[in-house]
Amino acid sequence: MNATSATAISHPNIAFIKYWGNRDNELRLPVNGSISMNLDGLFTRTTVSFTSAKADVLTINSDQVTGKGLERVSYILDLVRLRAGINDRAEVTSENNFPAGAGIASSAAAFAALAVAASKAAGLDLSEPELSVLARRGSGSASRSVPAGFVEWKMGEAESDSYAFSIAPANHWNLADCVAIVNAAHKKTGSTEGHAIARTSPLQNARVADASRRLEICRNAILNKDFDAFANIIEHDSDMMHSVMMTSNPPLMYWQAATVEIFHLVREWRASGLPVGYTVDAGANVHVLCLGEYKTEVEKRLREIPGVSNVLVAGVGGAARTV
Ligand code: DP6
Repeated sequence: MNATSATAISHPNIAFIKYWGNRDNELRLPVNGSISMNLDGLFTRTTVSFTSAKADVLTINSDQVTGKGLERVSYILDLVRLRAGINDRAEVTSENNFPAGAGIASSAAAFAALAVAASKAAGLDLSEPELSVLARRGSGSASRSVPAGFVEWKMGEAESDSYAFSIAPANHWNLADCVAIVNAAHKKTGSTEGHAIARTSPLQNARVADASRRLEICRNAILNKDFDAFANIIEHDSDMMHSVMMTSNPPLMYWQAATVEIFHLVREWRASGLPVGYTVDAGANVHVLCLGEYKTEVEKRLREIPGVSNVLVAGVGGAARTV
């Protein structure tokens, strides 16, 4: 082994065309491609050290994690050990600079940083697609936190070609994500369980069949910096995913009253000339995308809405990398 310890940082991402449902849950092979942007300023920093210890040890934000959380990390470490031909257990220490429960999925940044740090620590020299595939095995959306800027994850034909790649660098388009934190009253169902029941909705087949159309519109809107087309397609795609969620068995209803209130306001603001559009992941919080010049105005307006407890603002972020 060339290295026994490595540290990596990675940004979370927000999906514009959503990943919802797998054709293979174990391999996390999605039923449709997706597009996202990395969130600058927010990151996970992870150090992996292979040691002579008897078991893998995971510490997140100074708390030791066991059970399911540790198993999911060991699953990725096993893939790395197999590939590197090593048997050593690892100490994994991870920290997020964004608050837990802030409406930012931490699993994407976490598994992208883990893939980069673990493979480096094991002495492997993996390509970006290989790192994206490895991150995908831990959390599908993590595949998209590996490349820089604006990213597309292609569904691929098999395990090795379902990876994400950059469609435009971070400095291509000055967008900001203003995340309105809405207090959720109910405990939410996690994405992994959600993917597994997506096919129980009669709307899922229609959503999947139409995915390449939405991907093309979104990709072109980003490449042409066409904000109006961008706002319309991200809202449409988010609404389609939530329609599937609401009509699954059991039904998943993530929205709160304030979530819907923000949808109406965002559309009113856009109609009156403010470049804004919304998208929502598996939670109640609303990601309000806007042109970077307007982020202070958008943040101010969101903070005035009853039911919004906080607003986080992020620009477009770079790739996962060793530090
Ligand atoms: C709604 O990547 O969190 O955020 O693969 O089970 O970890 P797992 O799921 P995850 O699902 C993300 C769902 C989403 C949409 C998206 O990010 O594309």
